[in-house]
Amino acid sequence: MTRDRWTSRLGFVLAAAGSAIGLGNLWKFPYITWDNNGGAFVLVYLLCILAVGLPIMIAEILVGRMTQKSPVGALREALGPAWSLVGGLGVFTGFVILSYYTVIAGWTLRYFVVCLGWSFNGFVSAESSSEVFGTFVSDGPLQTLLVILFMAATMAVVLKGVGGGIEKVARVLMPALFGILLLLLVSALSMKGAGQALRFIFVPDFSGFQPRGALEGLGQAFFSLSLGMGAMITYGSYLGPRESVVRSATLVVILDTMIAVLAAVIMFSVIFSVPGMQEQIGKSTVGMLFITLPQLFYTAVPFGVLLAPLFYVLVAFAALTSTISLLEVVCSYFIDERKYTRRKAVTVCGLGTLVGSILCALSFGSSQFLSSFSLVYRGAAYAKRGLFEHMDYVASNWFLSVGGFFITLGVGWIMTRRTSEGELVDETTPRWFNYGAWRVLVRYVAPAAVAIIIAAVVSGKDFS
Ligand code: TRP
Repeated sequence: MTRDRWTSRLGFVLAAAGSAIGLGNLWKFPYITWDNNGGAFVLVYLLCILAVGLPIMIAEILVGRMTQKSPVGALREALGPAWSLVGGLGVFTGFVILSYYTVIAGWTLRYFVVCLGWSFNGFVSAESSSEVFGTFVSDGPLQTLLVILFMAATMAVVLKGVGGGIEKVARVLMPALFGILLLLLVSALSMKGAGQALRFIFVPDFSGFQPRGALEGLGQAFFSLSLGMGAMITYGSYLGPRESVVRSATLVVILDTMIAVLAAVIMFSVIFSVPGMQEQIGKSTVGMLFITLPQLFYTAVPFGVLLAPLFYVLVAFAALTSTISLLEVVCSYFIDERKYTRRKAVTVCGLGTLVGSILCALSFGSSQFLSSFSLVYRGAAYAKRGLFEHMDYVASNWFLSVGGFFITLGVGWIMTRRTSEGELVDETTPRWFNYGAWRVLVRYVAPAAVAIIIAAVVSGKDFS
């Protein structure tokens, strides 16, 4: 049987960008930037992307394209038998992230419908926005229905395979996403808070910046670029041998970073345009996307009535192309290593993850137990939180950094110079690419940076 392939490089880039661009860009990045006072954090984030994100992205795609296998088999073949454990951790991480990610993804469906209602019948009041959110998240049956819908959509696409499913969907959804974002950007930039927003994001002020911001930036870079669990190994494994790793990786990184920054520009332009909004956001920055923004669309944004439902379509599209990649990683393990048919793999993995998703969906108040219990962590130990938060904590703090650490270590130190240079440098390599610089980043800079995160996590820090 021949391996399922992308039909072109553009198809791969759109699918990989689809994996990378998701709730990490539209939901997490803006509120982390807000919490860390803007400009200084954005600058540090860009540095993390350049010095650690891009080199690891190249490393992952390289391993995938070279071995033509999903993470477990790929790392075994490229680095040695013990390394399949790192691949295994990746597959498990995919399952964990997919479980909780689907919950927020499902919310976007609901908000699309709610906004349609507001657009047609009129928006009631600012209070109703947070009320709607409060009753909504603790509505167990509705939460369950939403994750089922979102998981079903994800499974339907993955079932169709790489070229015929994942790539096809990315080819439609990604351009739609860019288009909607552009509309929102034009509207946001016409608002009076735009200048202040741009200054907030692009003028670094290091006076209040804390070192934990740098670590948060690095963790966010991992999550946002879908690194550290072999998602890019998997997508890279469907590349033909003649497709440039460096070029594709760079494009994906640029697209992902651009969308994150643009999302922040849009949201902050709106927020700075409304007097008193900054203070009001205060502690509830996590709720920016679902509490603050809906009300602002209807009270402040030009053409908000049109843009609000469109905005949630955008977030849903971004989330879907990401859940697809997460499910594909889990399925590809069963297809490659356990010889499952795609149909069986998608059914088993999709339904298996759905159980986790439903439990997470009930952890915002509908189930008392799931919403607040403690696990044994050091430092942040014994903190009571919901299952959703526990899973986000474990995956983003531990699994992605440990996985990423071993991947960069392996590609930097176990894989020979000859092999990696042979894979990366050929006539398709862009002229600006410097193999020596990449090797230094992958051998020293990236592992050191990730080791610092792991040390911080071990000492009890929480970056989720
Ligand atoms: N990158 C996606 C986002 O920013 C989430 C995601 C998809 C992901 N696949 C992943 C994160 C693999 C880590 C690993 O929303």
